[in-house]
This record gives sequence, structure tokens and C-alpha cells, in this order.
Amino acid sequence: MKVGGRVRPPGDKSISHRAVMLAGLARGTSELEGLLTGADVKSTARVLRQLGVEISSIRESGPVTVHGSRIMHAASRLHCGNSGTTARLLLGILAGQRFAATLTGDASLRRRPMRRVTEPLRAMGARIAEERGDALPLTIRGGRLRPLTYTTPVASAQIKSAVLLAGLTGHVAVTIREPYRSRDHTERLFVHLGLGLHERDGAIVYEPSSPSVIPSFRLAVPGDASSAAFLVAAAALAEGGELLVENVGVNPTRTGFLVVLERMGGHVERVNLRDEGGEPVADLVARPARLRGTEVAAGEVPTLVDEVPILAVLASRAEGETVFREVGELRVKESNRLELIAANLRAVGVEAEARGNDLHVCGATQPPRGRVETARDHRLAMAFAVLGTVPGADVRLSERASVAISYPQFFRDLRRIGEEGSGKREA
Ligand code: S3P
Repeated sequence: MKVGGRVRPPGDKSISHRAVMLAGLARGTSELEGLLTGADVKSTARVLRQLGVEISSIRESGPVTVHGSRIMHAASRLHCGNSGTTARLLLGILAGQRFAATLTGDASLRRRPMRRVTEPLRAMGARIAEERGDALPLTIRGGRLRPLTYTTPVASAQIKSAVLLAGLTGHVAVTIREPYRSRDHTERLFVHLGLGLHERDGAIVYEPSSPSVIPSFRLAVPGDASSAAFLVAAAALAEGGELLVENVGVNPTRTGFLVVLERMGGHVERVNLRDEGGEPVADLVARPARLRGTEVAAGEVPTLVDEVPILAVLASRAEGETVFREVGELRVKESNRLELIAANLRAVGVEAEARGNDLHVCGATQPPRGRVETARDHRLAMAFAVLGTVPGADVRLSERASVAISYPQFFRDLRRIGEEGSGKREA
């Protein structure tokens, strides 16, 4: 396909969750512009409403208003849908509350590990009862918390954010170190709202101020760098044209995809750089490229953790081998992404294999053909849909509906950039 025109990815999923949560805890009415309308953010809004927060409906156009309040005991279980961020960050918020609440989720979320978050929260004094071991459902009873100094076992923004939110709602200091820096949206939003966060000797430190009121706020959520990656990748694999991807968050803890793509021989220009609520934002100009294989180091993984599926797809069209080091975390995402990326690449004729915690992909030249099992994982569906745009490809997806989790308009946008590239439609 050829690409053309301009496209705006949906609002950043991570920032949207955090913005709705902090607005829910704030005093007064907050206005959030550009919030993701995907199912995951709706899960966060749904559970916050169950806890007494008033949130207007989350639609494509117009701001969302959130009337923050003291959150209250909910009559029924809090269902977090497919969203790990909802469940894990909410556990942090609930750790500082003096009532019990039970969290659950869909079948995929109920398979994902939770002790990585409940361990530090227990160390702070939250009581958490398990029904099925290291998984949801969980019942948490928060209350009076103790300060915590903690080093996370894996670089996970969800662990870090849960602990920071527990510090915030429990009014206690927390100090966090992580093996590699994970996405820092929570820290940036805390700083933006004047919530006593700073860095000391490489650690993230939250110190409550008194009185500890969270002010209401207005925020324009930037476009999601992870969603933009699928569009940029489609442009990199295209036979011609140029694509403008507008309003993309380019926080360096999220742009490892662009760094690796550059190393593979792609080039993406960042233009019109600006700041939105403490987050850097730019427009991206993406073009077709001849790609070569590369090695992705363990330290880079947190900056591209959600982009491994699409990078693996790019690697399958590159010259030579690409190795992703230490991507074992992909086993506990919305699906076992590590095994499914490799199996699905093989299903379309590409040599690929998970060896221990590393993923190896060999570039192929023949068109990809075969059936892909997405396991209802949105990022697998989108990555392999992009592979399906390669000339001569015949990539059949087991389902497409999962894209609604993070990018409801994905297939419309993918089709449109192709139509604009081929001149079937005016840019
Ligand atoms: C997220 C953190 C990452 C990422 C997820 C969103 C967040 O998970 O994969 O899609 O918003 O904090 P981990 O914290 O498990 O790495």
C-alpha cells in the first residue's frame, strides 16, 4: 500500500487512566480533553463511578468533566474489564481508604499477576485477601498506612504508580527505585498538580504536604505514542507516500519504538514540538524505509514494552535478524504476547522464536500469508493488521474487535491512510 494524508491517534491510554483517577480524587470539577474513548479507560471511569465519582460520558468529541469527591464504599464488585492499569492503580488508591472493596476483571485480566502490586501495598499496611492466589479477584481494606521505601522487582509503571497513589491517598511518604526507568506519566501529573513529588539520588520521592488537597485541573491528553506506532509502522512498510501523524506524546519513557525504528533504518521527523500539561507532544512525519535487523537491549524494553508486537512485525520485513532481549514481561500482558508473536509470525511464514526471555525474528522477503490468533489482544490484532498491508500479503486475523480496548477507530484510520496514499480519497 501507499500512505498519505494526516491522522490523529486516540488519546494516550496511560495518561487518560491517570487523569481520570486524579480528577476523581481532586476537590472540584476537572475538565479532560482528548481522553481515550477505548474500553480500558471506560473501565476506569466505571469503577470510579461505583465509588461515588461523577464522570460525564466519555465520547469522541467534547471534554469529559469529573466531579471529584471523597470516594465511598461500593455496593458491588469493581469490575476492571480487560484493564491491568485500572486494577493495579486502583489498588493503590484503595490502599488509603478505610473500607473494603473487591476487584475483579475479565478472563484475561484474572490471569495476570497482582502480587507485584499487593506486596508493596501490604508492606504499607493495606490488608488484601486473595481468592485464587496471585490474581484477581482481590479484596482490599486500606486504612492507616506506613511510609515505604521500595525497589520494584521489574520496571513497571503500574507498580510504581500504585505505590505513589497509595502514598497520596494514605498521606504517607514513599520512595521508589526501579531497575530501569518505566513510563513516568504519574510523576509528571503529580508535579503538574503540585503534589510533592521529586527525584533524589535516582529515586522517585513523594512527600505529602499538609493540607493535602488535590486541586481540580484541566488537561489536554496527548495522542498515544503506542497507537501512533502502528501508523508509523504502516508508513515504514509502505511502497510510497508520506504520513503526518498529529499530536503524539513523545515522552522519552515512551518513544523507544522511534529510537529502534531509526536504528533499523527508518526515519521519523518530529515537528511542532510543544508541551501539554507537563508532557512533550509533537507531530510525526513518517515515510517508507528499507529496514535492517537490530538488537533491542533489556534497558530499552520499558520504553517500548507495548510496541514489541509491532516492532517484531517490522523486524519480519527487515534484512537480517532482530533480537529483543529480556522481554519475559510480555508473557503477562493481555495475552502471552511473547509466545503469540513468535507463533503468529511462524504462521505467516516468518522464522521467529522465543528463546528463554529473548525473542528472535528473522526478516523474510516472501509475502506474509496465513491465519493469526490474536487471543483478543488489541496490540496483536493491530500489529498483524499492519503486516497485512504489505504487497501480496494475506494475513487473516482471528478477530478484530479487540482494537476497541485502546484504538476504537484503528481499522478506519488504517484504511483511510491507504486510500489517501493511493489517491482514492482527498487528503
Ligand atoms: C502501563 C504500564 C505498562 C504497559 C501498560 C500500561 C501504565 O505495564 O504495558 O500497557 O499505564 O502504567 P507494566 O507496568 O506492567 O509494565
